[in-house]
Amino acid sequence: SKSYTITLLPGDGIGPEVISVAKNALQLVASLEGIKFKFNEMPMGGAALDLTGVPLPEETLLSAKQSDAVLLGAIGGYKWDNNEKHLKPETGLLQLREGLKVFANLRPATVLPQLVDASTLKKEVAEGVDLMVVRELTGGIYFGKPRGFSTNENGDELGFNTEVYAAHEIDRIARVAFETARKRRGKLCSVDKANVLEASMLWRKRVTSLASEYPDVELSHMYVDNAAMQLVRNPKQFDTIVTNNIFGDILSDEASMITGSIGMLPSASLGESGPGLFEPIHGSAPDIAGQDKANPLATVLSAAMLLKYGLGEEKAALRIEAAVLDTLNRGFRTGDIHSAGLNLVGCKEMGEQVLKSIDSSVPAA
Ligand code: NAD
Ligand code: IPM
Ligand code: MN
Repeated sequence: SKSYTITLLPGDGIGPEVISVAKNALQLVASLEGIKFKFNEMPMGGAALDLTGVPLPEETLLSAKQSDAVLLGAIGGYKWDNNEKHLKPETGLLQLREGLKVFANLRPATVLPQLVDASTLKKEVAEGVDLMVVRELTGGIYFGKPRGFSTNENGDELGFNTEVYAAHEIDRIARVAFETARKRRGKLCSVDKANVLEASMLWRKRVTSLASEYPDVELSHMYVDNAAMQLVRNPKQFDTIVTNNIFGDILSDEASMITGSIGMLPSASLGESGPGLFEPIHGSAPDIAGQDKANPLATVLSAAMLLKYGLGEEKAALRIEAAVLDTLNRGFRTGDIHSAGLNLVGCKEMGEQVLKSIDSSVPAA
């Protein structure tokens, strides 16, 4: 039978709680599909700082590189917020993304019929939304140089960063986005700030020049401020969105709320080759950590993306997705997506119900 090595990075806050649920789900679908998983659990983020003094230990990166896929919970927390930059949990995550060269971050926002009422938007606005944010993940202002702190001629302290994109970085993320749109509804909206930023002017020029290779995809452009507005005005106008690292970070958190909760949104980060990195888009949620309140479904759905995009195990992925829908159909809700008349449960119980749904569901077609 097929055997895969998965590096698990539980991280901080609610990370370990949601990873435990996703691991159980992976284990159960594996047994049903005749797949074998070897899980390598490694320290990452604040947990790694406490244990080893760095946010991404060499052994963790090595394990990630040598595995078939990586599943991450979340990193960060108050305890490390005032650390120097190179000793922040977040720096470890950026090093991991850079180390795995996963430049393409797919963040799907789908409004499930079961959760229309959990959205803060009106039913008629949220219903049927199904969009994909393709976020550039290893470039832009997160990595651009020069960056740092200094002092100007008036003795005023400065903090500075650089938004920079090379043509090849734009081209490769644009290609992923065109291919993604082609497999979806054939509409691609490139989001930038080309009315102000040079990096965005180059972005728009490169994306536009690639369009002729994808005549079946309808390309449009939108400024990021308008895009933020349009996402809550009429999100159904969007199919696939492609954007830079920082705009993608912000717009995907915004898009998550259309679906009911940030606790629902998974992601896949992919490179040209090598293992993919799969993680919920939310953070370590220190405000609810350790209270068994976290919604584990974003991580469970990230495990489904791992199966589909990372391993090509489409049937196993469908089993997990179907089980999430079945669990919601049976009325189970964590606090973030709860409404009157439904069954309020904690993270663990939600996980157990997902397992029950996986167990009882007929094999995916
Ligand atoms: P956050 O996403 O952790 O939390 C924002 C809000 O959403 C909180 O009220 C939280 O309780 C809620 N929330 C998030 N995930 C949830 C879930 N699964 N179920 C229910 N509610 C959930 O963002 P933040 O508060 O801005 O950041 C907290 C820490 O997480 C920071 O240290 C930040 O750097 C880090 N962070 C890490 C990642 C990551 O690991 N990929 C992503 C974002 C933020
Ligand atoms: C995310 C997070 C990260 C990002 C942080 C924690 C570095 O917000 O995964 O969305 O900004 O990419
Ligand atoms: Mn984010």
